[in-house]
Amino acid sequence: MCGIVGFTGRHQAAPILLDGLSKLEYRGYDSAGIAVRDGEGETEVIKAKGRLKVLSEKTNGGETVPGTCGIGHTRWATHGEPSENNAHPHMTDDGNIVAVHNGIIENYQELKNKLARKGYTFYSETDTEVAVKLIDYYYKKYEGTPVDAITHSMVRIRGSYALAIMFKDYPGEIYVARKDSPMILGVAEDESFIASDVPAILKYTRNVYYIGNLEMARVKKGEVTFYNLDGDEIEKELKTIEWDAEAAEKAGYEHFMMKEIHEQPKAVLDTLNSVLEDGKIDLSEVGLEEESIRNIQQIYIIACGSAYHVGMAAQYVIEDLAQIPVRVELASEFRYRKMALNTNSLAVIISQSGETADSLAALRKCKENGIHTLGIVNVVGSSIAREADNVFYTLAGPEISVATTKAYSTQLIAAYTLAIQFAMVRGTITEEAYSNYISELQTLPDKICKILEDKERIQWFASKQANVKDAFFVGRGIDYAISLEGSLKMKEISYIHSEAYAAGELKHGTISLIEDGTLVIGVLTQPDLYEKTVSNMVECKSRGAYLMGLTTFGNYNIEDTADFTVYIPKTDPHFATSLAVIPLQLLGYYVSVAKGLDVDKPRNLAKSVTVE
Ligand code: F6R
Repeated sequence: MCGIVGFTGRHQAAPILLDGLSKLEYRGYDSAGIAVRDGEGETEVIKAKGRLKVLSEKTNGGETVPGTCGIGHTRWATHGEPSENNAHPHMTDDGNIVAVHNGIIENYQELKNKLARKGYTFYSETDTEVAVKLIDYYYKKYEGTPVDAITHSMVRIRGSYALAIMFKDYPGEIYVARKDSPMILGVAEDESFIASDVPAILKYTRNVYYIGNLEMARVKKGEVTFYNLDGDEIEKELKTIEWDAEAAEKAGYEHFMMKEIHEQPKAVLDTLNSVLEDGKIDLSEVGLEEESIRNIQQIYIIACGSAYHVGMAAQYVIEDLAQIPVRVELASEFRYRKMALNTNSLAVIISQSGETADSLAALRKCKENGIHTLGIVNVVGSSIAREADNVFYTLAGPEISVATTKAYSTQLIAAYTLAIQFAMVRGTITEEAYSNYISELQTLPDKICKILEDKERIQWFASKQANVKDAFFVGRGIDYAISLEGSLKMKEISYIHSEAYAAGELKHGTISLIEDGTLVIGVLTQPDLYEKTVSNMVECKSRGAYLMGLTTFGNYNIEDTADFTVYIPKTDPHFATSLAVIPLQLLGYYVSVAKGLDVDKPRNLAKSVTVE
């Protein structure tokens, strides 16, 4: 949710912190702040409500805050409204300790009461200020090292946190503690970096350490030491990040979302090629054995938001091709469900960030119940990637826009290849069908390019629809799954109320909402369901709806019904989601632009949802 950066080295810290925060602003953007220290001098804390540019202006790009060691934060409010007072960093009144935090401290009220009894007062409503003062309390009480004080605090704190902390007695050093919130540590010659996500430090280094759960780190110039909860030193392996720095820049596009929409053909191809060997699917890197594939009795696909929508589409494909029953579960619901779980099953957790709190909790629940887990994850080294039994990495590269596009598309490819391979191993498709499906997948990147060539038509339609109040996306089967994603894209970035409905369900209540001019988008990629959905669209039209039809080339009779039509290239219907989603992403994007909204950073949202 929130973004954290830190730097200690030979250069001025503030400009590096602001630059890093600018790469993380998608994680939260209601306030920002930095704390910088010049040698052994006092720590200076500067904060601002609103976007990062306010903080940047306030500090003249960081120039007015000298010092070579500092921490920074961009906030997505959890405890306490967005305000300068509640913005991070938070510092003790005597300047002894200053920290930034990502996550939620669940027992913060209890800890606050305890600290108040010990004489501490509080100036903000945040749980972070409580953490800072708790560490201060233990630091003073035991007169030990920062690691001792943090350890004492970590065992008292319930919830999730990634903390970057500076102690007055330890100039030039930053201490880090982590539980269930992401954090990476980068090193270069004579300098070290801290960040909650890779793009913030890519420009400076690709050599990183991943800090584990309930671990701490002491960060000095070019050197990091790790500790476990007992305060004992632990060894870590330095890893290299493969993403390139340009991937995290806009490259001439007006918005990251548009850039990422255009990156889909390559992302899809890269992800597909990562599991293709001599024209066959090879899951050996993923680590799934044929024997275990044969024994799967049930698949649970668990995810949130768009990743859940991938699961919805995948369900139809896996059930049809591999004949394995699939349940698709919202992670936030699944984690608290008291249901009998089939242990001869495979749980597939889909997550771009690999850090979504609910998805991570669902993964852990599956593992506790003895279920084999597979993560479909984009961010290498993320929590879900590390904790899942097997990982299928999608190769989307860094996704910066809050609304997902290319990660969603690569997740679909991962799901398709699993479905095809499972079907082959279990003998539910012929070798010929197997080869045909793979060949069809290989055509998808070019077909996505074709759709993108015609984007101006969607732009024109979007400009006409920018003022609609409500939109309904309807379809059956896979077309329903596509509708779910189309509807989410529309509402999250254009703030138009939109709903996705299984077309056959409209009559059971929702159709009463249709009135003159209501926009109804019918998704019609499944030949066997085409006429059924068209009938449902006609029912809407006779109640005044304005109809858009999204279907494959050849289905030209849709023009007798729909007021506006969009055609996508033909593909095997199992894989139609990969194509039909593109015009819907464009529609959401162009409506948002037409309304003058902040496409990449829609209000109230954050890119990676690390709190439940
Ligand atoms: C919507 C969107 C979200 C994410 C969801 C899960 O455009 O991006 O709905 O899909 O928050 O995030 P990950 O995939 O990181 O677990």
